[in-house]
Amino acid sequence: MAELDQLTQAYERTHPRSAELHLRAKELFSAQGATHFSRVRTPFRPYISQAAGSRKWDVDGNEYIDYVMGHGALILGHSHPVVVEAVQRQAAIGFHFGDNHPLEVEWAGRIRNLMPAAERVEFFASGQEANQMGIRVARAFTGRKRLLKFKHNYHGWADELCAEGSAGALDSEVTVIPVDDLDTLERHLSSREYAVVLIEGGGGRISGRVPTSVGFFRALPELTRRHGTVLLLDEVVTGFREAAGGWQSVVGIQPDLTSIGKAASGGLPSGALLGRADVMAVLSPDAPRERLVVHGGTWNAVPLTCAAGIAACDLYRDGVPQRLARERADALRRQGNSVLRRGGVGARLYGRTIVHIYIGRLDRDPADDTDPPTTDIGQIMAPEAAPIHKRLDLHLLTRGIASMRGEAFTLSSAHTKEDVDVTVGALEESFQALTREGLI
Ligand SMILES: Cc1ncc(COP(=O)(O)O)c(C=O)c1O
Repeated sequence: MAELDQLTQAYERTHPRSAELHLRAKELFSAQGATHFSRVRTPFRPYISQAAGSRKWDVDGNEYIDYVMGHGALILGHSHPVVVEAVQRQAAIGFHFGDNHPLEVEWAGRIRNLMPAAERVEFFASGQEANQMGIRVARAFTGRKRLLKFKHNYHGWADELCAEGSAGALDSEVTVIPVDDLDTLERHLSSREYAVVLIEGGGGRISGRVPTSVGFFRALPELTRRHGTVLLLDEVVTGFREAAGGWQSVVGIQPDLTSIGKAASGGLPSGALLGRADVMAVLSPDAPRERLVVHGGTWNAVPLTCAAGIAACDLYRDGVPQRLARERADALRRQGNSVLRRGGVGARLYGRTIVHIYIGRLDRDPADDTDPPTTDIGQIMAPEAAPIHKRLDLHLLTRGIASMRGEAFTLSSAHTKEDVDVTVGALEESFQALTREGLI
């Protein structure tokens, strides 16, 4: 317990200006001063004032190797010079024309080149907006209402998208089932009430914390087609992060609709819905009135975002940033797991370019540690583990590592071998501290 208090005290001592900002923020923002549920923390997350490449710095001058990476958006690292140059050039000649402009055509064309399923493209301000529109388009196209989605998948916070529901959210037309259960899925789809099946590419929760078998993804296009349901693949995280063609290119499927966001615009806010021309024809003013879907949005395809998106997509095309991020992730997993094994710690790292931290029972110790050490999703998502992850997050922060909630490390092409070595050292020390504290 003494050590628990010491850690918090030491953190507060080295973050005095963040502490001051946190006090002011608590008077402004309802969620204990945080502007996103994942940033709510005791005592507080640091207040960041600058970032570059794999690093960021807080207002007290503390340096971090960053593994939040813009909630997964920054596969190129912070402020990639090519994207910065494109944004600066565009900022000088207009943020927003409120009109058609060439950059939106250029960006959409590049997206289609990367993802051939994008016969048509529709732009938004965020990933969840793309998902919301995907659901609406599917409803208009099929004339059906129901949405089927999967447990522990995250698609945004809007009404029907919330992972575990929320006070005030309307979701009466939603069915939630576990992943990897084709029989249950088919039983629901055969009712022919479902407009759309929505699933996260790469597995649930930020690219595979909850794994989903490749076979399941591969079965979805035929199964949904047979029952007249639209398949919407949420590639908001995996789009251009997993591979130049996204998760769909990795598993070899062509969904009816795909949502992207995050990395697609190189770090500026965006979302896009991509898909079959016949399905997305409900967005055309020529569609019959009872099928017509109207789309507004002040921030759709703003020139600044398009400029960043074009620069980023050009960098994604040859797959080099994705390969670099994966190589660093592989090194982090391998080296991290080797210290966890050596220390006899009940925790393992797994995943692809986002490396997840599992703490709990080890049912197996797979040689290929892209897989978690248990197939029990209840264990992976165990609520009892949440305070331990938060505590790990604080231990890592005091050692100069900004993880994603103590649950994951998001890699980018800017992370170096040295970053990985430092991170593994900090991880080892943090788990030793958790052991001393009796938390694991
Ligand atoms: C898989 C997935 N889909 C959709 C979203 C929502 O995207 P946005 O936060 O841009 O609305 C997220 C956000 O983390 C996500 O992880």
